[in-house]
Amino acid sequence: MQAAALVVSLVCMAVVALAFILAARAAGGAGQAASHTERRRMQLIVGLAVIGVAVSLASMWPWPHAAQAGSAGQPTINVTGGQWYWRIDNVSVPRGVPVTFNVRTADVTHGFGVADADGRLLFQVQAMPGYVNRVAWTFDKPGTYRVVCLEYCGVAHHAMLTQFTVEEGA
Ligand code: CUA
Repeated sequence: MQAAALVVSLVCMAVVALAFILAARAAGGAGQAASHTERRRMQLIVGLAVIGVAVSLASMWPWPHAAQAGSAGQPTINVTGGQWYWRIDNVSVPRGVPVTFNVRTADVTHGFGVADADGRLLFQVQAMPGYVNRVAWTFDKPGTYRVVCLEYCGVAHHAMLTQFTVEEGA
């Protein structure tokens, strides 16, 4: 689903870019040779576009969906969010290996967010009606991790708290 959305987005961007290129070429062919200033301006625009695309790609690497997909053989933990609780089928999580969380909702959309002992948010994924969203994470340190809800989901949204423990060789 997410891979299909990525492909559709890239195809649409390519079509829009092609339309701009064709329009620019058609406009350029109408008059006489472009002046020095116009050529410099076009070089500047193309240069900035190349830099923008490069920075965008670099900042998205590694692709979040690929990194979050998880793979067979990894420990898997099923998480269900509901008004207003989190249900986690295994509260003892191994350290040092990728753990895949399969996140569902029992009712409305919730935001499954995991924070470390210092309250620093490590990752989050939406719990959405009709979907099982997966996120993989490798916990480096043993200890207690807190689960919070990051999507407003009703009057007791703030009370959607739970925790799990990361253990050596759990
Ligand atoms: Cu569940 Cu906010």
